Amino acid sequence: MSRRILTILLILLACLIVSCIAISFISQRGGHTNPPVTAEPQWDSPRTRELFFRACADCHSNETVWPWYSNVPPVSLLIQNDTLEGRAKFNVSEWGRPENEGGEAAELLQNGEMPPRMFLLMHSSARLNDSEKQELLKGLIATFGGEGGEGGEEGEND
Ligand code: HEC
Repeated sequence: MSRRILTILLILLACLIVSCIAISFISQRGGHTNPPVTAEPQWDSPRTRELFFRACADCHSNETVWPWYSNVPPVSLLIQNDTLEGRAKFNVSEWGRPENEGGEAAELLQNGEMPPRMFLLMHSSARLNDSEKQELLKGLIATFGGEGGEGGEEGEND
């Protein structure tokens, strides 16, 4: 490889690194924040809250645990958008807001739409086994109302 090509490649690489850093700073501005908790729903049991915090709260509360890779673009933007969008629809730290829609929570868990699959890939601790899932389902229904999705017979385990 001639020296000139090598120089050009190095300059390009440097530009890439600088723009990545710049993007990550821009995307983070005002992003990775945890606003104060103003009110929580009346959980039917501490266990429901515990399971919810494992599987859902990173996107549906103001107590988000931001992982290290949430600082790395472009992942940072994806995670931030999910969290902000999730909070906007359903936020257990700002209970009493009219936007909160908990009625569908059990159904979304039941049919596997929540938590989002991408999230589960990255958060092994958010994965629930079958009996934990049934527990959370019952807890969500008792706390937020609504019904499990179709095919939603109550599990017979435990
Ligand atoms: C990775 C982030 C993330 C996680 C984790 C997550 N959600 Fe969501 N959730 C979202 C986003 C984004 C939306 C809004 C977009 C949509 O409706 O698909 C949403 C929407 C919702 C809504 C509102 C639906 C509506 O349209 O009104 C409910 C209820 C909900 N999620 C329940 C849950 C429950 C229950 C869990 C845990 C079992 C969970 N979510 C885990 C990101 C997440």
